[in-house]
Amino acid sequence: MTEERKVADSLVETVHMVRPNHLNAAGRLFGGILMQWLDEVAGMVAKRHTRSNVITASVDNLRFIHGAYKGEMVVIVGKVTFVGNTSLEVRVDTYSEHTDTGMRYPINRAYFTMVALDENDRPKPVPRLILETEEEKAEWEAAKKRREMRMQRRKEGF
Ligand SMILES: CC(C)(COP(=O)(O)OP(=O)(O)OC[C@H]1O[C@@H](n2cnc3c(N)ncnc32)[C@H](O)[C@@H]1OP(=O)(O)O)[C@@H](O)C(=O)NCCC(=O)NCCS
Repeated sequence: MTEERKVADSLVETVHMVRPNHLNAAGRLFGGILMQWLDEVAGMVAKRHTRSNVITASVDNLRFIHGAYKGEMVVIVGKVTFVGNTSLEVRVDTYSEHTDTGMRYPINRAYFTMVALDENDRPKPVPRLILETEEEKAEWEAAKKRREMRMQRRKEGF
């Protein structure tokens, strides 16, 4: 039987408190730290979906919309948007949550392509994705276009 999982089965949400050791010289959350947190979330989502070892093949859209500052909470939400043959796309949304109001402000949305690996570290097929909502179906369609663009970039050696 073909293995398949829902988007909700692998959803991951992490929360980090921005501490002094996370700041850059300008007093904001250091982008490199945030990238590590995003990659970890994408990896956990992919591991939950595939139940196997995974690696990051590419990352799209690392555009920082807002900074985050000491004492704020950084909320990172990751979910599967598309599955190919051996790869899957994971959307990772990042927010800064202000503790006084509970309001969340978008920091970044990134799309990670993760690849499942077998025991010889070679790409292996990933479980299918069950799409339950209109939003998930729309994400899937948008992901197909992003995948085409990545394929094109890969062909061009970019
Ligand atoms: C990603 C990697 C496994 C691809 O290996 P490969 O021998 O080229 O394998 P394939 O061509 O079969 O590609 C495997 C899957 O990755 C996808 N892929 C490969 N390069 C990609 C890229 N640049 N962007 C997006 N997807 C990519 C392919 O489309 C394929 O997915 P599919 O089966 O769903 O169509 C290989 O390049 C690798 O191991 N890279 C290092 C990854 C790593 O170490 N990451 C940690 C960060 S340092």
